[in-house]
Amino acid sequence: MSQPVAIITGASSGMGLAVTKHLVAQGWRVAMADIDEDTGRKVSAELGDQVLFCLTDVSSYSQQADLFRKAFLWGENRLDLFAANAGIADTQFLQENDYNYDEKGLPLALNLKALDVNFTAVIQGIWLFKHYARQNKIPGGKVVITSSSAGLYPMETNPVYTASKHGLVGLTRALGPALLRQNIQINAICPGFVPTALCPKEMLDRFPKEHITPMSTVIKAYDAFLGDHSLHGQTVELSLDQLYFRTKPDYPNESQRWLGEDSASFWEEAYTTPVS
Ligand SMILES: NC(=O)c1ccc[n+]([C@@H]2O[C@H](COP(=O)([O-])OP(=O)(O)OC[C@H]3O[C@@H](n4cnc5c(N)ncnc54)[C@H](O)[C@@H]3O)[C@@H](O)[C@H]2O)c1
Repeated sequence: MSQPVAIITGASSGMGLAVTKHLVAQGWRVAMADIDEDTGRKVSAELGDQVLFCLTDVSSYSQQADLFRKAFLWGENRLDLFAANAGIADTQFLQENDYNYDEKGLPLALNLKALDVNFTAVIQGIWLFKHYARQNKIPGGKVVITSSSAGLYPMETNPVYTASKHGLVGLTRALGPALLRQNIQINAICPGFVPTALCPKEMLDRFPKEHITPMSTVIKAYDAFLGDHSLHGQTVELSLDQLYFRTKPDYPNESQRWLGEDSASFWEEAYTTPVS
């Protein structure tokens, strides 16, 4: 039997790199995708032929589509895992007033790169993964999304980041059952603070040690999702050395419970064709 194959985005650094190394040690082949070419190529050379580095900006659909095509061919028509992990902080702050103007004096659009990378690219990546996963010898596979604690609680300094990570939690919960019917298990991790390059070095050094979630907890969460085929649509919060499986919020009354749990046949009839 051939080795399992993963695509990991944001694999040149932090969690993506740690998960890459972990999976390689477990016998996986990993297509590492990142915009950081120097580090990515250096690491992939060190890890050897179990790894393929693909220079990819996930916010470009064509680059991500190319990544999936290359990885699937390299994996000999096999793709078992998509770790949608690349993410960035806000590139412009919605709450601040640093407007720039066009020649008519109209405010230029807010820079939404964080939404493009953290959210839209993940959806497009899942769209691509489904296309290839159904061509596996046994159709199906797994998706692990990197959301954040900011997907469960507000991070006031980064409202767009918060929105993108909350979006990923909703996406995981909404897609879980439908993708399971295609033998794809989709789950999300919501890490607390993990020391990586996402945080400026000088701040990292000052971060209170007792609030650091170690990389081993990230690996523990991946092992949980990869080892248990019954888990789907799950959101797991990672704090310190613990995994906390978080369920959707409680319903305030019976009507909202009906809407959330028993109204599926109504909506299936309402949305038989997508709204154009
Ligand atoms: N570090 C934390 O405390 C923390 C907590 C919760 C969630 N997260 C999330 O974890 C994920 C991984 O981040 P990290 O902490 O390992 O940070 P990191 O900065 O070490 O790694 C992120 C990687 O993503 C890459 N990347 C950025 N934009 C990209 C793009 N457009 N296309 C492809 N690659 C791109 C970067 O080059 C980098 O290698 C992110 O989604 C982040 O939001 C981080």
